[in-house]
Amino acid sequence: MAEYQENSIVESNERLAEGLYRLTLQAPRIAAAAHPGQFIMAACGHSLDPLLRRPLSLHQVTASGTIRLLFKVIGRGTQLLSELQRGQSVSLIGPLGRGFRLPPAGPICLVGGGIGIAPLSFLANTWLQQPRPVDSCVVLLGARTGAELRLLATEFKDLGCQVHTATDDGSLGHHGLVSDLLPPFLATLKKVHTCGPKPMMAAIAGLCREAAIPCETSLEAHMACGLGACLGCAIPDRNGHYQHVCKHGPVFNAEEVVWNR
Ligand SMILES: Cc1cc2nc3c(=O)[nH]c(=O)nc-3n(C[C@H](O)[C@H](O)[C@H](O)COP(=O)(O)OP(=O)(O)OC[C@H]3O[C@@H](n4cnc5c(N)ncnc54)[C@H](O)[C@@H]3O)c2cc1C
Ligand code: FES
Repeated sequence: MAEYQENSIVESNERLAEGLYRLTLQAPRIAAAAHPGQFIMAACGHSLDPLLRRPLSLHQVTASGTIRLLFKVIGRGTQLLSELQRGQSVSLIGPLGRGFRLPPAGPICLVGGGIGIAPLSFLANTWLQQPRPVDSCVVLLGARTGAELRLLATEFKDLGCQVHTATDDGSLGHHGLVSDLLPPFLATLKKVHTCGPKPMMAAIAGLCREAAIPCETSLEAHMACGLGACLGCAIPDRNGHYQHVCKHGPVFNAEEVVWNR
């Protein structure tokens, strides 16, 4: 698979909610090679601090060569990304890793929690580029508050998805866990794709296993290189082997994942 180092140019940097940003970059080579579920490693500044690039999922990709990143400010790297202005450059390496594998037919369900929603926009968009029956893409979104979800939920609806939301504080949709929303759909689904906090993905994987529905999960790990070179992102799988999240993932078959570690 092609990987590029590309000096992307900032088109816009929007603040969507407290600490939540969407960065639009011109990165035509990465955009042309990208597949949903893959990620980029972004250099967050022009000095040696922070030294390491930071991994971010490809949130949206356009045919005109732009990519979008949706990110939460966590520490120094993401703080620097949130300060970028139109016209500035950002060095990226990507697209990296193994993304989602879409089934030949649906309906499919995308379950996103918090910032784990980021890669699911690109996935829904790719799925809906083919003519599909109504409700071929069910999207279940969870977050702490409605403020983090409203815009994203509207965008999934505009794409043609059937969208349901859950919030911790009850300010939008179901008052509770996003995994509570999945059971009514299990009888008809062909596949589930999920990204979010590990306990949420473990719950989704458990429901899919009981219903014998294939499930893919996008995992996070601390990544120093993102290229399979440093071995810092290794996780054990169910067969007693080690998998590198950056190279063998970040998307894994949920059955391969050891959830209770
Ligand atoms: C494949 C992959 C895709 C990702 N996609 C996205 C994405 O699309 N959007 C997004 O916002 N983030 C995403 N992340 C997480 C993102 O890489 C981290 O939030 C980012 O590297 C933090 O960098 P920083 O310099 O801001 O914080 P750091 O200074 O590196 O970390 C600050 C503190 O936060 C802790 N920390 C770091 N990452 C996380 C985390 N994810 N959750 C909780 N605590 C953390 C650190 O241990 C440290 O204590 C992804 C991670 C991976 C592996
Ligand atoms: S981050 Fe270096 S091997 Fe995965």
